[in-house]
Amino acid sequence: MRRVVVTGLGAITPLGVAGIRRTWQRLLAGHCGIVNILDRDERIAQLPCRIAAVVPMGKKVDGGWDPSEWLAPGVGFSISRIIGGADDRRMALFSQYAIAAAEEALGDAGLLGNMSEEQKDMAGVCIGSGIGSLDDVYNTSVTYEKGGYKKVSPLFVPRLLINMAAGHITMKHGFRGPNHAASTACTTGAHALGDASRFILHSDATIMLAGGSESCIHPLSLSGFCRAKSLCTAHNSTPHLSSRPFDSLRSGFVMGEGAGVVVLEELKHAKARGARIYAELKGYGLSGDAHHMTAPPEDGAGAERAMRAALRNAGVEPRRVGYINAHATSTVLGDRAENRAIKSVMLGQGGVERAGLVNISSTKGAVGHLLGAAGVVEAIFSILAVKENVLPPTLNLDHPGDPPEEFDCNYVPKAAQEKDVDVALTNSFGFGGTNASLCFAKYE
Ligand SMILES: *[C@@H]1O[C@H](CO)[C@@H](O)[C@H](O)[C@H]1NC(C)=O
Ligand SMILES: *[C@@H]1O[C@H](CO)[C@@H](O)[C@H](O)[C@H]1NC(C)=O
Ligand SMILES: *[C@@H]1O[C@H](CO)[C@@H](O)[C@H](O)[C@H]1NC(C)=O
Ligand SMILES: *[C@@H]1O[C@H](CO)[C@@H](O)[C@H](O)[C@H]1NC(C)=O
Repeated sequence: MRRVVVTGLGAITPLGVAGIRRTWQRLLAGHCGIVNILDRDERIAQLPCRIAAVVPMGKKVDGGWDPSEWLAPGVGFSISRIIGGADDRRMALFSQYAIAAAEEALGDAGLLGNMSEEQKDMAGVCIGSGIGSLDDVYNTSVTYEKGGYKKVSPLFVPRLLINMAAGHITMKHGFRGPNHAASTACTTGAHALGDASRFILHSDATIMLAGGSESCIHPLSLSGFCRAKSLCTAHNSTPHLSSRPFDSLRSGFVMGEGAGVVVLEELKHAKARGARIYAELKGYGLSGDAHHMTAPPEDGAGAERAMRAALRNAGVEPRRVGYINAHATSTVLGDRAENRAIKSVMLGQGGVERAGLVNISSTKGAVGHLLGAAGVVEAIFSILAVKENVLPPTLNLDHPGDPPEEFDCNYVPKAAQEKDVDVALTNSFGFGGTNASLCFAKYE
C-alpha cells in the first residue's frame, strides 16, 4: 500500500514572500495582511468594498514580491519572445506566483536542481487557479474594442489559460509526469492536493508539486463579488478588522491573492532519500451540495459529507482530530453552516463529548480569502499545526455568534494555542456547490 507524505512547502501570501516561515510566524503572532487598496486603481474609490489582502511588494529578503528575483529575463526584442521571451511577459501574475511558490517548495524539500532524469519522469505538477488572469481578459477586451484584432497580443491565450501555471513549472524543472490543473472556484487548492495524492497512490507519479494560485484583485472582480453581496463593506477605513470568521459582527469575506505549493511524495521514496517529512496526507473527501449556485444549505450537509469522507478515507475517528482549519470566510451564512457541519461530525459517534473540546480556527482573518489558493495555503497551515503542535488563531473573534449558543467550540480566538495535534482536517468550499476536505496526520 503506497502512502503520501508532505516533504516541501512554499507560499506567497499577504503575510509574506520567500519562505513559509515568515508567513507562519506572522500568522501565529496575529498579524493581518488586509489593507486599503485605493492606491491601486482610481476606480476602486467607486466601489462599496475598497480593501483586500495583498501580497506585499519589496525585496525577497524583506518578505516582499519582486518578480525580477524569481523570473528569467528576456532574450531581447524579437519574435522569439513569444516562446523564449521574458517570463513576466509570457506569464500572467498568477503563474508568476505559482512559479515562485513551486521553487520555494522544491528548495524546502531538498529537490531543487537535485533530481535525476528517472525522478523527473515520475514527477508531476497539479496546480490550478479559480479565476486566472482577469487583468488580461479586461485589458485585451478594451484593446480589441478600440483597435481590432491586430492589437491583440500573441501572448494573450498563453497568459490566460488556467493550466499554464502548471505548464510553466513542468518546463522550468523538466518534470515529465502528470501535468494537471484543477479549477473549482475556492476549492481549487484542496482538490489539487487531493487529486495529486491519488496520482501518487495510483503510481502515476512519485513526486507531485500540488497547489493553487490566484491574483485577480481588480475593480471588475470586486464589482462582481460586491454585486453578489459577498464582500465585507463595513471596514474600508479599518481593514485589519474586516475579516472576522465566526464573530457575530462578521459581514462578508475579503478578497486575497497569493499562491501555495506543496511537495507530495511517495513515502518510500521520501525515506530513501532521507527527506524531512512534515506530515502524512492520509485522507481526502469530496462532495457536492446540489443545492444553489452560491449559498450553502443551512445545515451544511455538503460540508459534513466531505469531512466524513476524508475521515473514512484516512481511517481516523473524529475524536482524534485535534485541529480543524475551517473554510469560514467571514460570511453570516457560510460560517454558520460550516460550524453546524463540523459539530455534527465531531460530536457524533466516535467524536468528543462536548463542543468545547472541538478545536477550530479560520486563518482568513489574517490572509483574507485567497480563492483558488485558499485550499492549499490553509492546508499548509494545517500541516504546520500537525508538525509543530500549535493552532493558528482566528483574528477579530470578539463574540462568537449569530446565534451565540451555536458557536460553543474552541475557535482559537486572537492568539495561537499550543497543543498536541495528531490529526488535522482542512475544509474548502466553492461556488457551484463543491466541497472538499483533506486529512493530515503526524507521520509515524
Ligand atoms: C540532493 O539530494 C541528496 C540525496 O537525495 C541529498 O542528500 C542532498 O542534501 C540534496 N542537496 C541539496 C542541495 O538539496
Ligand atoms: C492592464 O492595464 C493596466 C492599465 O493600463 C496596467 O496597469 C496593467 O499592468 C495591465 N495589465 C496587464 C496584465 O497587461
Ligand atoms: C459547500 O459548498 C458550497 C458552495 O456553494 C459552499 O458555499 C458551502 O459553504 C459548502 N457547504 C456547506 C458549508 O454546507
Ligand atoms: C482540543 O483542545 C483541548 C485543549 O487543549 C483538548 O483538551 C481537546 O482534547 C482537543 N480536542 C481534540 C478533539 O483533540
